[in-house]
Amino acid sequence: MGEVDGIVAADGIAMDKLLIIDDEVDIQRSFRRLLESQDIEVHTAGSGEEALEILPRLNPDLVIMDVRMGGMSGLETLRRIRDADARLPVIMMTAYGTTQTAIEAMKLGAFDYLLKPFDIPKLKELIAGALRAARQMKAVVSFEPLLESADYELGIVGRSGPMQTVFKLVGQLAASEATALITGESGTGKELVARAIYSHSSRSRQPFVAINCAAIPESLLESELFGHEKGAFTGAAQQRIGKFEQCNHGTIFLDEIGDMPLATQTKILRVLQSGTFERVGGNETVKVDVRVIAATNKPLEQAVAARTFREDLFYRLNVVRLPLPPLRERREDIPLLVDYFLRKFAKESGRPPKAVVPDVVRVLESHAWPGNVRELENSLRRASVVATGEAILPRDLPPEVLSSSAGLSIAPTAKMAAAGLSIPAADEAGEPEISAVIRTLFQWARQSREFKVLPAVERELVIEALKDTKGNQVQAAKLLGITRATLRKRIDKFGIRKDLVIQ
Ligand SMILES: Nc1ncnc2c1ncn2[C@@H]1O[C@H](COP(=O)(O)OP(=O)(O)OP(=O)(O)O)[C@@H](O)[C@H]1O
Ligand SMILES: [Mg+2]
Repeated sequence: MGEVDGIVAADGIAMDKLLIIDDEVDIQRSFRRLLESQDIEVHTAGSGEEALEILPRLNPDLVIMDVRMGGMSGLETLRRIRDADARLPVIMMTAYGTTQTAIEAMKLGAFDYLLKPFDIPKLKELIAGALRAARQMKAVVSFEPLLESADYELGIVGRSGPMQTVFKLVGQLAASEATALITGESGTGKELVARAIYSHSSRSRQPFVAINCAAIPESLLESELFGHEKGAFTGAAQQRIGKFEQCNHGTIFLDEIGDMPLATQTKILRVLQSGTFERVGGNETVKVDVRVIAATNKPLEQAVAARTFREDLFYRLNVVRLPLPPLRERREDIPLLVDYFLRKFAKESGRPPKAVVPDVVRVLESHAWPGNVRELENSLRRASVVATGEAILPRDLPPEVLSSSAGLSIAPTAKMAAAGLSIPAADEAGEPEISAVIRTLFQWARQSREFKVLPAVERELVIEALKDTKGNQVQAAKLLGITRATLRKRIDKFGIRKDLVIQ
């Protein structure tokens, strides 16, 4: 599922409009045959002139255009399309042997180019990627603290104190051109916040490109960002234009910047200082005007200490830092997020939103959420699929979420219960025998990769020890046979409710 919603039609189905510009009727026809579907509407134009005329009315989501056409050239048409709307992705089609034009097109900000004859699966993948990028650029991420609006759209949800601070910083960053460093654990909304800054900035009509530095092999990252010259390294058969050049005047989101190799860091520092760089293997200095927003879920200070991250780059990025709070530090936002996600899923599926019973909210509020908002979203998505009725019940929640809630502790999901997996029967004392419980936990672990026996049990023990000692941490630690510092760490790690912990 996409991080950011598409523009959804009333019936819940997103319809994308493609404009094919080619003077050959055969090509127009084969695109129509290949791509027209329930989700995609294909329009055609026989020349650049015709395309420019229908463009404002049509407002397509993607343009695919031949480089070589009678009348206005592909490049000239591209230039004019970019002037009208720099966020509209344009894919250029070119025959082998004219790649120089393709490179020119990339410099003008084309999304990508395709070589004829087409590789169909690749073509479809490229189109899907371009449509996704277009949707995300156009979707304005709102960061107003949510009002009681019944149909709130794409937004950053949260009313808690820590989130108010985030909203303020997002607003300030949107109004400035400063480089920003967004920090926070996985799933706290770093990319969402980066998009919010972009969509409210003066560059919102220019492109936004997100690059995950951890996902691209080290050897390719530099060329991906800065491009390369022909023959720069083995396999560099053609010149290639990098994202910084392609995204000129736009915004680049460098995700997981902590994983960027040192050599690339040096180049980034220079771009930040002077807006200049050379393509890999080239001498020509290229000048660009690009805003950089970086994000990391690793403490960069540690990487600096370990000399895997340049100190000067760190200071440069750290000028405006936007730390995102983990979900466990803003539990009061959980009901709001639950409401938001249930409405979002309802919109996606075209069905009325499911309700949640109070017990579910209680469980969700006491879970530690190591995967933060993303984990909450995924848990709810799964629960709304598993739930058989109108409402989500505790048994519909994933086992790891359920098992970590105090009191309710360990209970199987509906699926597990249906498979005959339940907590073993109680003995005369009213308590199930511990070895039977353990065997059950192992069974659950076999059923669900996310269910981790040891942390689940450890959390239970910490809670029980705290209850037993009325929240006295010194005594609880003694009881558990760990130091008080370790106990503190466990309390934090498991997000154990502070009301159980009397200082
Ligand atoms: N405050 C929020 N309100 C609504 N949705 C949110 C919020 N924070 C995060 N999300 C949603 O949670 C998911 C994860 O967010 P995002 O991808 O921005 O996190 P991230 O910090 O970049 O995570 P990672 O470090 O794993 O890449 C997305 O689907 C996003 O829309
Ligand atoms: Mg991310």
